[in-house]
Amino acid sequence: MKALVLAGGSGTRLRPFSHSLPKQLIPVANRAVLSYVLGNVHAAGVTDVGIIVSNGAEAIRQALGDGADHGLRLTYLTQPQPLGLAHAVRVARPFLGVDDFVVYLGDNMLADGIAETVARFRRDRPAAHLVVQKVADPRAFGVVELDAQARVRRLVEKPPEPRSDLALVGVYVFTAALHAAVDAITPSARGELELTDAVQWLVDRGADVRADEYAGFWKDVGTVADVLECNRYVLGGQRGRIDGRVDTHSTIGPGVVVETGARVVRSRIQGPAIVGAGALVEDSLLGPHTAVGAGCRVQGSEVADSVLLDGASVTAVLRLAGSILGRGAVVTGGGSAGHRLVLGDHGAVTLDP
Ligand code: G1P
Repeated sequence: MKALVLAGGSGTRLRPFSHSLPKQLIPVANRAVLSYVLGNVHAAGVTDVGIIVSNGAEAIRQALGDGADHGLRLTYLTQPQPLGLAHAVRVARPFLGVDDFVVYLGDNMLADGIAETVARFRRDRPAAHLVVQKVADPRAFGVVELDAQARVRRLVEKPPEPRSDLALVGVYVFTAALHAAVDAITPSARGELELTDAVQWLVDRGADVRADEYAGFWKDVGTVADVLECNRYVLGGQRGRIDGRVDTHSTIGPGVVVETGARVVRSRIQGPAIVGAGALVEDSLLGPHTAVGAGCRVQGSEVADSVLLDGASVTAVLRLAGSILGRGAVVTGGGSAGHRLVLGDHGAVTLDP
Protein backbone atom coordinates (compact mmCIF):
# COMPACT_ATOMS: atom_id res chain seq x y z
CA MET A 1 0.00 0.00 0.00
CA LYS A 2 1.08 3.57 -0.73
CA ALA A 3 -0.05 6.96 0.53
CA LEU A 4 -0.71 10.14 -1.39
CA VAL A 5 -0.51 13.25 0.75
CA LEU A 6 -2.00 16.38 -0.81
CA ALA A 7 -0.12 19.52 0.11
CA GLY A 8 -0.87 21.82 -2.80
CA GLY A 9 -3.64 24.43 -2.59
CA SER A 10 -3.35 28.03 -1.54
CA GLY A 11 -5.05 28.25 1.88
CA THR A 12 -6.74 31.57 1.25
CA ARG A 13 -8.63 31.45 4.56
CA LEU A 14 -5.34 31.36 6.44
CA ARG A 15 -3.95 34.57 5.01
CA PRO A 16 -1.63 36.24 5.83
CA PHE A 17 0.26 33.13 6.98
CA SER A 18 -0.39 31.18 3.82
CA HIS A 19 1.31 33.94 1.78
CA SER A 20 4.68 32.96 3.17
CA LEU A 21 4.11 29.45 4.49
CA PRO A 22 1.99 26.67 2.99
CA LYS A 23 -0.90 26.13 5.39
CA GLN A 24 0.12 22.50 5.84
CA LEU A 25 3.25 23.77 7.60
CA ILE A 26 1.40 25.90 10.16
CA PRO A 27 2.54 24.65 13.56
CA VAL A 28 0.23 23.08 16.10
CA ALA A 29 1.96 22.70 19.46
CA ASN A 30 5.21 23.62 17.66
CA ARG A 31 4.93 20.88 15.05
CA ALA A 32 3.75 21.34 11.47
CA VAL A 33 0.34 19.92 10.61
CA LEU A 34 2.06 17.93 7.82
CA SER A 35 4.34 16.32 10.35
CA TYR A 36 1.30 14.91 12.19
CA VAL A 37 -0.03 13.70 8.83
CA LEU A 38 3.19 11.84 8.03
CA GLY A 39 3.37 10.46 11.57
CA ASN A 40 -0.12 9.02 11.17
CA VAL A 41 0.73 7.50 7.78
CA HIS A 42 3.79 5.83 9.27
CA ALA A 43 1.83 4.58 12.29
CA ALA A 44 -0.66 2.98 9.89
CA GLY A 45 2.18 0.92 8.42
CA VAL A 46 2.60 2.77 5.12
CA THR A 47 6.10 3.99 4.21
CA ASP A 48 5.99 4.70 0.48
CA VAL A 49 4.48 8.17 0.26
CA GLY A 50 3.86 10.50 -2.65
CA ILE A 51 3.36 14.14 -1.76
CA ILE A 52 1.54 16.49 -4.10
CA VAL A 53 2.99 19.99 -3.99
CA SER A 54 2.40 23.20 -5.95
CA ASN A 55 3.19 26.78 -4.87
CA GLY A 56 4.72 25.98 -1.51
CA ALA A 57 6.90 23.17 -2.86
CA GLU A 58 10.25 24.60 -1.73
CA ALA A 59 9.18 25.20 1.88
CA ILE A 60 7.67 21.72 2.07
CA ARG A 61 10.83 20.10 0.68
CA GLN A 62 12.90 21.99 3.22
CA ALA A 63 10.68 20.90 6.08
CA LEU A 64 10.31 17.23 5.15
CA GLY A 65 13.34 16.36 3.04
CA ASP A 66 13.30 12.77 1.82
CA GLY A 67 11.00 11.71 4.67
CA ALA A 68 13.69 9.80 6.58
CA ASP A 69 12.98 11.79 9.78
CA HIS A 70 9.48 10.32 9.72
CA GLY A 71 10.68 6.85 8.72
CA LEU A 72 9.19 7.30 5.22
CA ARG A 73 10.31 7.37 1.60
CA LEU A 74 8.85 10.56 0.11
CA THR A 75 8.34 11.17 -3.58
CA TYR A 76 7.51 14.76 -4.55
CA LEU A 77 4.89 15.12 -7.28
CA THR A 78 4.11 18.52 -8.76
CA GLN A 79 0.56 19.53 -9.53
CA PRO A 80 1.10 22.47 -11.88
CA GLN A 81 -2.35 23.97 -11.29
CA PRO A 82 -4.93 23.54 -8.52
CA LEU A 83 -7.41 21.57 -10.63
CA GLY A 84 -8.88 19.50 -7.82
CA LEU A 85 -8.22 16.52 -5.58
CA ALA A 86 -9.10 13.97 -8.26
CA HIS A 87 -6.73 15.78 -10.62
CA ALA A 88 -3.98 15.29 -8.03
CA VAL A 89 -4.69 11.56 -8.15
CA ARG A 90 -4.30 11.70 -11.95
CA VAL A 91 -0.95 13.45 -11.53
CA ALA A 92 0.12 10.71 -9.11
CA ARG A 93 -0.94 7.78 -11.29
CA PRO A 94 2.61 6.80 -12.41
CA PHE A 95 3.69 6.81 -8.75
CA LEU A 96 0.65 4.87 -7.50
CA GLY A 97 0.68 2.20 -10.20
CA VAL A 98 -1.73 -0.64 -9.39
CA ASP A 99 -1.31 -0.44 -5.62
CA ASP A 100 -3.97 0.29 -3.02
CA PHE A 101 -3.50 3.76 -1.57
CA VAL A 102 -4.48 6.19 1.13
CA VAL A 103 -5.31 9.75 0.06
CA TYR A 104 -4.65 12.12 2.95
CA LEU A 105 -5.32 15.84 2.72
CA GLY A 106 -2.31 17.57 4.26
CA ASP A 107 -4.35 20.15 6.17
CA ASN A 108 -6.37 17.57 8.09
CA MET A 109 -5.48 17.03 11.73
CA LEU A 110 -6.58 13.61 12.95
CA ALA A 111 -5.13 13.66 16.41
CA ASP A 112 -5.94 10.02 17.03
CA GLY A 113 -4.33 8.60 13.92
CA ILE A 114 -5.63 6.61 10.94
CA ALA A 115 -4.32 3.14 11.80
CA GLU A 116 -7.78 1.72 12.50
CA THR A 117 -9.18 3.05 9.23
CA VAL A 118 -6.36 1.52 7.21
CA ALA A 119 -6.62 -1.78 9.09
CA ARG A 120 -10.33 -1.96 8.33
CA PHE A 121 -9.74 -1.30 4.65
CA ARG A 122 -7.12 -4.03 4.59
CA ARG A 123 -9.56 -6.47 6.17
CA ASP A 124 -12.55 -5.79 3.88
CA ARG A 125 -10.81 -4.27 0.87
CA PRO A 126 -13.77 -2.37 -0.62
CA ALA A 127 -13.14 -0.23 -3.72
CA ALA A 128 -13.20 2.83 -1.49
CA HIS A 129 -13.21 3.29 2.26
CA LEU A 130 -14.19 6.77 3.46
CA VAL A 131 -13.99 8.42 6.85
CA VAL A 132 -16.82 10.64 8.07
CA GLN A 133 -17.68 12.63 11.15
CA LYS A 134 -20.85 14.40 12.26
CA VAL A 135 -20.52 18.17 12.12
CA ALA A 136 -22.87 21.00 13.06
CA ASP A 137 -22.62 22.70 9.66
CA PRO A 138 -21.77 20.28 6.85
CA ARG A 139 -22.03 22.87 4.06
CA ALA A 140 -18.27 23.44 4.03
CA PHE A 141 -17.51 19.75 3.38
CA GLY A 142 -18.21 16.81 1.19
CA VAL A 143 -21.45 15.37 2.58
CA VAL A 144 -22.12 11.64 2.68
CA GLU A 145 -25.37 9.69 2.82
CA LEU A 146 -25.16 6.12 4.09
CA ASP A 147 -27.55 3.20 4.04
CA ALA A 148 -28.27 1.01 7.06
CA GLN A 149 -25.15 -1.12 6.39
CA ALA A 150 -22.84 1.92 6.33
CA ARG A 151 -22.53 1.61 2.55
CA VAL A 152 -22.19 4.94 0.81
CA ARG A 153 -25.24 5.90 -1.23
CA ARG A 154 -24.49 9.48 -2.19
CA LEU A 155 -21.77 12.09 -1.87
CA VAL A 156 -22.14 15.78 -2.63
CA GLU A 157 -19.38 18.36 -2.46
CA LYS A 158 -20.31 21.36 -0.28
CA PRO A 159 -24.08 21.21 -0.79
CA PRO A 160 -26.02 24.37 0.17
CA GLU A 161 -28.71 22.10 1.62
CA PRO A 162 -27.00 19.03 3.09
CA ARG A 163 -29.05 15.84 3.29
CA SER A 164 -27.03 14.45 6.20
CA ASP A 165 -24.75 15.76 8.92
CA LEU A 166 -21.89 13.44 7.96
CA ALA A 167 -18.90 15.39 6.66
CA LEU A 168 -16.19 13.74 4.65
CA VAL A 169 -12.92 13.69 6.58
CA GLY A 170 -9.86 14.21 4.38
CA VAL A 171 -8.67 10.60 4.56
CA TYR A 172 -9.73 8.02 1.96
CA VAL A 173 -8.46 4.54 1.15
CA PHE A 174 -8.79 3.18 -2.39
CA THR A 175 -7.97 0.27 -4.60
CA ALA A 176 -6.69 1.04 -8.10
CA ALA A 177 -10.37 1.00 -9.17
CA LEU A 178 -10.37 4.74 -8.45
CA HIS A 179 -8.24 5.52 -11.51
CA ALA A 180 -11.01 4.71 -13.98
CA ALA A 181 -13.28 7.01 -11.99
CA VAL A 182 -10.92 9.99 -12.00
CA ASP A 183 -10.55 9.51 -15.77
CA ALA A 184 -14.29 9.43 -16.32
CA ILE A 185 -15.43 12.52 -14.40
CA THR A 186 -15.56 16.09 -15.69
CA PRO A 187 -14.84 19.34 -13.82
CA SER A 188 -17.42 20.57 -11.29
CA ALA A 189 -19.08 23.98 -11.28
CA ARG A 190 -16.00 25.39 -9.50
CA GLY A 191 -13.83 24.04 -12.30
CA GLU A 192 -12.19 21.23 -10.33
CA LEU A 193 -12.05 17.48 -10.67
CA GLU A 194 -13.69 16.50 -7.37
CA LEU A 195 -12.72 13.37 -5.51
CA THR A 196 -16.31 13.19 -4.27
CA ASP A 197 -17.51 12.96 -7.90
CA ALA A 198 -15.01 10.17 -8.60
CA VAL A 199 -16.25 8.21 -5.58
CA GLN A 200 -19.87 8.83 -6.62
CA TRP A 201 -18.96 7.43 -10.04
CA LEU A 202 -17.85 4.22 -8.30
CA VAL A 203 -21.05 4.11 -6.22
CA ASP A 204 -23.17 4.56 -9.36
CA ARG A 205 -21.47 1.55 -10.92
CA GLY A 206 -22.25 -0.66 -7.96
CA ALA A 207 -18.77 -0.65 -6.43
CA ASP A 208 -18.36 -1.43 -2.73
CA VAL A 209 -17.88 1.96 -1.07
CA ARG A 210 -17.97 2.11 2.72
CA ALA A 211 -17.54 4.71 5.41
CA ASP A 212 -16.53 4.70 9.04
CA GLU A 213 -17.29 7.37 11.57
CA TYR A 214 -14.11 8.79 13.05
CA ALA A 215 -14.41 8.84 16.82
CA GLY A 216 -11.27 10.89 17.51
CA PHE A 217 -10.40 14.57 17.19
CA TRP A 218 -10.60 15.83 13.60
CA LYS A 219 -10.19 19.30 12.23
CA ASP A 220 -9.53 20.58 8.75
CA VAL A 221 -7.10 23.38 9.55
CA GLY A 222 -8.49 26.12 7.33
CA THR A 223 -8.82 29.18 9.57
CA VAL A 224 -7.12 30.91 12.49
CA ALA A 225 -9.84 29.58 14.80
CA ASP A 226 -9.10 26.02 13.58
CA VAL A 227 -5.38 26.41 14.27
CA LEU A 228 -6.07 27.65 17.79
CA GLU A 229 -8.53 24.83 18.44
CA CYS A 230 -6.04 22.17 17.28
CA ASN A 231 -3.36 23.81 19.36
CA ARG A 232 -5.56 23.63 22.47
CA TYR A 233 -6.40 19.99 21.81
CA VAL A 234 -2.88 18.76 21.14
CA LEU A 235 -1.34 20.75 24.01
CA GLY A 236 -4.08 19.40 26.28
CA GLY A 237 -2.82 15.86 25.67
CA GLN A 238 0.86 16.53 26.22
CA ARG A 239 2.96 15.48 29.21
CA GLY A 240 5.06 18.12 30.95
CA ARG A 241 8.82 18.02 30.37
CA ILE A 242 11.56 20.50 31.24
CA ASP A 243 14.66 20.24 29.05
CA GLY A 244 15.52 23.94 29.12
CA ARG A 245 16.39 26.19 32.07
CA VAL A 246 13.86 27.51 34.56
CA ASP A 247 15.09 29.91 37.27
CA THR A 248 14.03 29.66 40.91
CA HIS A 249 11.73 32.70 40.62
CA SER A 250 9.52 30.99 38.07
CA THR A 251 6.63 28.59 38.51
CA ILE A 252 5.69 25.97 35.97
CA GLY A 253 2.32 24.27 36.05
CA PRO A 254 1.48 20.73 34.90
CA GLY A 255 1.51 19.93 31.18
CA VAL A 256 4.23 22.42 30.31
CA VAL A 257 7.07 21.56 27.95
CA VAL A 258 10.22 23.68 27.99
CA GLU A 259 12.47 22.58 25.14
CA THR A 260 16.24 22.38 25.12
CA GLY A 261 17.98 25.73 25.17
CA ALA A 262 14.82 27.60 26.20
CA ARG A 263 14.97 29.87 29.27
CA VAL A 264 12.22 30.80 31.69
CA VAL A 265 13.08 33.72 33.96
CA ARG A 266 10.87 35.27 36.72
CA SER A 267 7.76 33.96 34.97
CA ARG A 268 4.70 31.87 35.56
CA ILE A 269 3.65 29.31 32.97
CA GLN A 270 0.24 27.79 33.22
CA GLY A 271 -0.18 24.49 31.38
CA PRO A 272 -0.75 23.22 28.93
CA ALA A 273 1.88 25.18 27.05
CA ILE A 274 5.11 24.69 25.15
CA VAL A 275 8.19 26.88 24.98
CA GLY A 276 10.29 26.01 21.92
CA ALA A 277 14.04 25.48 21.65
CA GLY A 278 16.10 28.55 22.39
CA ALA A 279 13.09 30.72 23.30
CA LEU A 280 13.13 33.19 26.20
CA VAL A 281 10.19 33.82 28.53
CA GLU A 282 11.05 36.58 31.01
CA ASP A 283 8.97 38.51 33.57
CA SER A 284 5.87 37.09 31.91
CA LEU A 285 2.71 35.15 32.41
CA LEU A 286 2.26 32.47 29.79
CA GLY A 287 -0.55 30.05 29.05
CA PRO A 288 -2.70 28.19 29.19
CA HIS A 289 -2.96 26.74 25.65
CA THR A 290 -0.01 28.64 24.30
CA ALA A 291 2.70 27.45 21.93
CA VAL A 292 5.83 29.57 21.75
CA GLY A 293 8.01 28.62 18.78
CA ALA A 294 11.77 28.18 18.64
CA GLY A 295 13.80 31.32 19.25
CA CYS A 296 10.79 33.44 20.34
CA ARG A 297 11.05 36.11 23.05
CA VAL A 298 8.22 36.90 25.45
CA GLN A 299 9.26 39.63 27.87
CA GLY A 300 7.20 41.54 30.42
CA SER A 301 4.01 40.27 28.82
CA GLU A 302 0.95 38.10 29.31
CA VAL A 303 0.12 35.64 26.53
CA ALA A 304 -2.66 33.04 26.58
CA ASP A 305 -4.39 30.77 24.05
CA SER A 306 -2.02 31.72 21.25
CA VAL A 307 0.46 30.39 18.72
CA LEU A 308 3.77 32.17 18.20
CA LEU A 309 5.68 31.00 15.16
CA ASP A 310 9.47 30.73 15.31
CA GLY A 311 11.35 33.90 16.14
CA ALA A 312 8.29 36.02 17.04
CA SER A 313 8.66 38.44 19.95
CA VAL A 314 6.22 40.02 22.37
CA THR A 315 7.50 42.76 24.66
CA ALA A 316 5.62 44.71 27.34
CA VAL A 317 2.19 43.66 26.12
CA LEU A 318 -0.35 43.59 28.89
CA ARG A 319 -2.37 40.74 27.51
CA LEU A 320 -2.47 38.91 24.24
CA ALA A 321 -4.96 36.10 23.72
CA GLY A 322 -6.44 34.11 20.83
CA SER A 323 -3.59 35.29 18.63
CA ILE A 324 -1.28 33.89 15.98
CA LEU A 325 1.99 35.67 15.29
CA GLY A 326 3.98 34.83 12.17
CA ARG A 327 7.67 34.02 12.02
CA GLY A 328 9.77 36.88 13.30
CA ALA A 329 6.71 39.06 13.99
CA VAL A 330 7.25 41.78 16.59
CA VAL A 331 4.64 43.09 19.02
CA THR A 332 5.56 45.78 21.52
CA GLY A 333 3.73 48.25 23.71
CA GLY A 334 1.10 48.42 26.35
CA GLY A 335 -2.64 48.85 26.15
CA SER A 336 -4.90 48.16 29.05
CA ALA A 337 -7.35 45.66 27.64
CA GLY A 338 -6.74 42.26 26.05
CA HIS A 339 -5.58 42.14 22.46
CA ARG A 340 -6.24 39.66 19.74
CA LEU A 341 -3.82 39.77 16.84
CA VAL A 342 -3.32 37.81 13.67
CA LEU A 343 0.01 38.93 12.36
CA GLY A 344 1.86 37.52 9.36
CA ASP A 345 5.55 36.68 9.09
CA HIS A 346 7.75 39.65 10.02
CA GLY A 347 4.73 41.86 10.79
CA ALA A 348 5.19 44.51 13.50
CA VAL A 349 2.65 46.11 15.83
CA THR A 350 3.12 48.64 18.61
CA LEU A 351 0.28 48.95 21.08
CA ASP A 352 0.07 52.37 22.75
CA PRO A 353 -0.80 52.42 26.42
C1 G1P B 1 -11.93 18.85 0.85
C2 G1P B 1 -12.94 17.88 0.21
C3 G1P B 1 -14.16 17.74 1.09
C4 G1P B 1 -13.76 17.31 2.49
C5 G1P B 1 -12.70 18.27 3.06
C6 G1P B 1 -12.14 17.73 4.36
O1 G1P B 1 -12.47 20.14 0.83
O2 G1P B 1 -13.27 18.34 -1.08
O3 G1P B 1 -15.04 16.79 0.54
O4 G1P B 1 -14.88 17.26 3.32
O5 G1P B 1 -11.62 18.46 2.16
O6 G1P B 1 -11.10 18.54 4.83
P1 G1P B 1 -11.54 21.45 0.85
O7 G1P B 1 -11.19 21.65 2.30
O8 G1P B 1 -10.33 21.14 0.04
O9 G1P B 1 -12.37 22.54 0.31
